[in-house]
Amino acid sequence: PWDRYARLRSGDPVHRHAEPGGPGFWAVMRHADIQYVSRRPEVFSSAAGGVMVPDPTEEQLSRNRLMMLFQDPPEHTATRAVVNRGFTPRMIGKLEEHIRDICRELVDAALARGTVDFVADIAAPLPLYVICELLGAPAEDREKVFTWSNALIGADDPDFATQDTEPIFELINYAVALGAQRRAEPRDDIVSKLVASGEDGSGMDDLALGVFVVLLAVAGNETTRNAASGGLQAFFDHPEQWERLLADRSLLRTLPDEVVRWVSPVVTMRRTTLTETELGGKTIPAGDKVVLYYPSGNRDADVFPDADVFDIGRDPNPHIGFGGGGPHFCLGAHLARMEVRVLFEVLAERAPGIAPAGTARRLRSNFVNSIKEMPVRLRM
Ligand code: HEM
Repeated sequence: PWDRYARLRSGDPVHRHAEPGGPGFWAVMRHADIQYVSRRPEVFSSAAGGVMVPDPTEEQLSRNRLMMLFQDPPEHTATRAVVNRGFTPRMIGKLEEHIRDICRELVDAALARGTVDFVADIAAPLPLYVICELLGAPAEDREKVFTWSNALIGADDPDFATQDTEPIFELINYAVALGAQRRAEPRDDIVSKLVASGEDGSGMDDLALGVFVVLLAVAGNETTRNAASGGLQAFFDHPEQWERLLADRSLLRTLPDEVVRWVSPVVTMRRTTLTETELGGKTIPAGDKVVLYYPSGNRDADVFPDADVFDIGRDPNPHIGFGGGGPHFCLGAHLARMEVRVLFEVLAERAPGIAPAGTARRLRSNFVNSIKEMPVRLRM
């Protein structure tokens, strides 16, 4: 799609896309416009029409609004304030050694087998195990949580799509039980911070916690999985960058942001206009869909010198792969960066000769940029 994105950026950066039989939408292609929209929730609402391009039913909409991704201020501000208590730099920093252990465990198991599917054997379990760590869930529950989360990520791919709502309830019940335990016996973990009532009594109740864990499973798994697999693919396509990393590990500092810029694991988020507004010289009526194209903004030559070059030393790197700023900026950005950094650190250390062992298969989806299967050979 890159040529098309580039043509729209220069020729028609806020493009009216007519859908046959549907209401159509505005495609926002430039970095600056995506930031502008992201930072004005009072005009560009996440609650009014949800954040996916297709229109949800009223029932879906009211259910989704329980999640902060689908809320507007001031509701969103209140939810996010509670959640931020758990996602402090200290709480996330505490996970680094665990993440390193998880990466070593996964990479060593893959090394022992030689040829593996990088997605199924490394990129998919990593974020899932990390979310289990984050919640303080015991290791023996990982597989359970993994199965529910996978079923939840209903991508529009026939291999994955599911109408089954059962896993959502399983996951919610699981989270509620975990929360009850931590209310009774608080630990130094995130769930304990979330359920503890603040001075204003604002701790999460059962429903809020259950819904939040569902959001974590949806927002934290597939995105990080795709950053990892897409990042490795980028190294396969640009072997000189892999050599560069092997020669200079200080590049691990800038690598994660370049991987996220390059891969742009989330393709779009959508907003709905609450009032008539101007954007990029166009007048957008109230009630219209506005769709932010992160991969396009991440290749915008007005912001990135050599935007079409994968450069793991890129600095500064004001990419919008975690969102264009504003209230919904990715809650897991620090954590995701850490996962990507530690994974490539461990691969460089233990499997520097990693190489493709067949053709990768991509997932059919216009919401996430995803690799479904990626055979690789791990070597020292
Ligand atoms: C929101 C990307 C990893 C949790 C978002 C948004 C994007 C995004 C684009 C929407 C921003 C907006 O609308 O302005 C990514 C990418 C990731 C990643 C590319 C991996 C490379 C994670 C992880 C977690 C997480 C690991 C949690 C453990 C969330 C949550 C939100 C969010 C909870 C909603 C925040 C809100 O509405 O206030 N992410 N994400 N994400 N992300 Fe991430």
